[in-house]
Amino acid sequence: MISENRIYQAYYTKSDPIVNYMVSLLSLKGSEKILEPCAGDGVFIDPIVKTFPDVQVDAFELNDNSYSNLLVKYSDFRNINVKKTDTLTDVDLQFLCSMGGGYDAIIANPPYGAWRDQEERRKLKRSYNGFYAKESYSLFLYRCIEALNDKGKLVFIIPDTYLNLHMHKDIRKYILTQTRIKEISLFPSSYFPGVNFGYANLSIISLEKSFNQKTTLENEFSIIKGFSKVEELGSNNDNIRTFNLKQKDVLNSPDYSFVTNGEKPIVNCLNLTELKIGDICDCVTGFYSGNDKDFLKVRNKTIRNSKRYEAVNLDLVEFTCDASLIDGLTNEKEYVPIVKGGNRKYYKPDDWFMNWSSEKVDFFKNDKKARYQNSSYYFRKGIGVPMVSSSSITGALIENRLFDQSIVGIFPKDETNLYYLLAFFNSPTCNKLIRSINSSTNNSSNYIKKIPFIEPDNQVLEKINERIRTILEACKTSQDFDSGLEELNNNAIKEIYGF
Ligand SMILES: C[S@@+](CC[C@H](N)C(=O)[O-])C[C@H]1O[C@@H](n2cnc3c(N)ncnc32)[C@H](O)[C@@H]1O
Repeated sequence: MISENRIYQAYYTKSDPIVNYMVSLLSLKGSEKILEPCAGDGVFIDPIVKTFPDVQVDAFELNDNSYSNLLVKYSDFRNINVKKTDTLTDVDLQFLCSMGGGYDAIIANPPYGAWRDQEERRKLKRSYNGFYAKESYSLFLYRCIEALNDKGKLVFIIPDTYLNLHMHKDIRKYILTQTRIKEISLFPSSYFPGVNFGYANLSIISLEKSFNQKTTLENEFSIIKGFSKVEELGSNNDNIRTFNLKQKDVLNSPDYSFVTNGEKPIVNCLNLTELKIGDICDCVTGFYSGNDKDFLKVRNKTIRNSKRYEAVNLDLVEFTCDASLIDGLTNEKEYVPIVKGGNRKYYKPDDWFMNWSSEKVDFFKNDKKARYQNSSYYFRKGIGVPMVSSSSITGALIENRLFDQSIVGIFPKDETNLYYLLAFFNSPTCNKLIRSINSSTNNSSNYIKKIPFIEPDNQVLEKINERIRTILEACKTSQDFDSGLEELNNNAIKEIYGF
């Protein structure tokens, strides 16, 4: 049973500072035609009609109860037209959009990730030119921009994921070419009463529709961040940081991604470095047995998170593995070491083992739940970066072992780069780059591939390699390393990249 909240995603904007700031961004005069596309209990409509009792408002709402309440609440207002409808499929709205729009102002807190079944999602994707249909807020944004008149204003409160997630590339292009963005404020989702996504921050975007492409590309807008409390929205306290971006520059950057950290050297490096990790490495996700409880074993029960797993018989482990083993073991051994997720730098000890007899591998190849994927990279030399990082990105050597699906395996096409890349994937420089490409803690291969690669000169490369050799030896023998060596590598990389 799907809960009502998952369908409607009705998190109401119960915060005066947010509501006041958003309404002020519309700079209303009272003569506008306004749309509230997911009206809820009318938090945005109330302050607007308080100031302009006669302003024209269309309030759309899908939920029966909310719709009835709105009808009662605004029964005395002939200028407020409450409609029970699905904004995303409303045919009158679609018609209005096909005629070039009809609203002067649109304000909303649309549902985020509202649930729809697969068939509906397919339909939505078709009618929204293939736009990503799992995340409802971007479809609301698209439809509402379409519904604006030329110079019509829109203010939305939405997660910040549209700014750089790969799946929102199309909506970015649409915004950048069809509107003039005024400002984007970024703040933690905890400012929003009752909501804390953890995975993303929230943003308030304010923009103006523009039929004139030339002026959209030349337009400069502000990114505003650094708020210490919600009341600071719209103020200019000292801690608040504002910087400007030009739409043309964002449109020219890879995947039209908005770099919101404001550091020029990082923005330049992302936009101007032609060579990317994806050009010099293959980046792939690893293996999953489909049933780790039965097939995965642990060195002993002192290993973290080992409770559900049996200890392995070390006599049955094949430690010298190479690419010839992708179809399974053919000797008397039964297990191979596997590198799992978890943020550990440089080297992960052999703590986990996968049942890798040739029969089991045949089973993995055919089982529906198992993921026997990218097998040509199994048991090769590469770097494993966990898909989700705790605080900073980390990389550890895979070195002739299997690696699991919680890891992105990075395999340099030229092995001479291996140790330099191992130093790089553990450096603050790399962390700044990946967090600018994607501000969440997600390191999926799509983002890793986009990290710029700058080659060091031979002397620097040799020094970094030497330090990495020492660090690896120390990790293998004492599971610790000299942080001074790491710092020297980090400084060298900082010099190469400039930050
Ligand atoms: C996040 S709430 C926001 C409500 C209100 N604007 C506010 O900020 O407090 C989203 C509202 O949109 C409604 N809703 C969800 N999907 C909708 C759709 N497809 N069309 C119209 N309304 C929808 C929900 O019932 C809910 O009331």
